[in-house]
Amino acid sequence: MLIFRQLFDQQSSTYTYLLADSTTGEAVLVDPVFEQVRREIALLGELGLRLLYTIDTHVHADHVTGAWMLKRRTGSQIAMSAASGAEGASRYLNHGDRCEFGTRYLGVRATPGHTNGCISLVLDDETMAFTGDCLLIRGTGRTDFQHGDPRAMFRAVHEQIFTLPETCLLFPAHDYRGLTVTSVGEERRFNPRLGGELCEDDFAGYMTNLRLPHPKQIDVAVPANLTCGVAASDPTQMAEPDWAPLTYNFAGIWEINPQWLEENLRSVQIVDVREPDEFDGPLGRIPEARLISLGELAKRAGELAQERPIVTVCRAGGRSAQATVILRQSGFEAVANLAGGMLRWRAEGRVVENGSM
Ligand SMILES: [Fe+2]
Repeated sequence: MLIFRQLFDQQSSTYTYLLADSTTGEAVLVDPVFEQVRREIALLGELGLRLLYTIDTHVHADHVTGAWMLKRRTGSQIAMSAASGAEGASRYLNHGDRCEFGTRYLGVRATPGHTNGCISLVLDDETMAFTGDCLLIRGTGRTDFQHGDPRAMFRAVHEQIFTLPETCLLFPAHDYRGLTVTSVGEERRFNPRLGGELCEDDFAGYMTNLRLPHPKQIDVAVPANLTCGVAASDPTQMAEPDWAPLTYNFAGIWEINPQWLEENLRSVQIVDVREPDEFDGPLGRIPEARLISLGELAKRAGELAQERPIVTVCRAGGRSAQATVILRQSGFEAVANLAGGMLRWRAEGRVVENGSM
């Protein structure tokens, strides 16, 4: 079965797509964003997938690709169009190539016009295509820099995308209104720039008069993306917490390894956010834990020391996940949740105080 996820980066309004074959667990990511690499790795982990490679549809001007950082973190390969001019890719793609994952593949189609190296990716059964910044939902990518060419774009859309089945779903690299998906049939009829009866001259006239502002990120993003993301904007953003072995989950919470916690009870502040009757109840509590119920945490956060990391605990790990959010809002940075809470702690046979089970 195909696993498919559409992921969003709010800063650049970029869509990243995860496709995977559930039978083999092999996955690809289309257009990953540097700042979202940690999130994408968490999702791959939770879904039990192995990232084979990343594919960038083109050299982006508005965000830095996550390709290189994902390669560093997961061992994935970097695929990039041969015409992109980018250095450092593991594989250079040409029109007609296939990017295989498990028993499925994405076919590569050259769709220049936004840049001269743009590609679109078409799923093997032609039910989905990823059009990058070529065809957008009721729009198109701009054609006024990076060797843009409106006439090349018009031909690419008509010859490579509008020739797909009417029902083929189209997923763009961006949408600035929050729209998520369209189809070949819809865009052929309703795209205001090149659908319906509009011809190549109409489109060229439209595109040369768009009067768009210069993209904010272009001076940083293009040089970084020409190296597949090696020269990233700020590598320190990706620094991992080093005070304990932590795991970041797709929900956005840092979780601590229970075994490490048991061995290092005194090096952290353990905050149990249950209610007093639970704290004294049959599940017991972790030695050294102090009770601050979740409802009181925001106003009592000042009782905690700034210099020692904090681990939050509750019955099953839900309230304590929210406690990490509250503590971060209160200015604490070294904070992690005990995933699974006291239930998992007890099930693993770890040390407790006052328990009667
Ligand atoms: Fe672009």
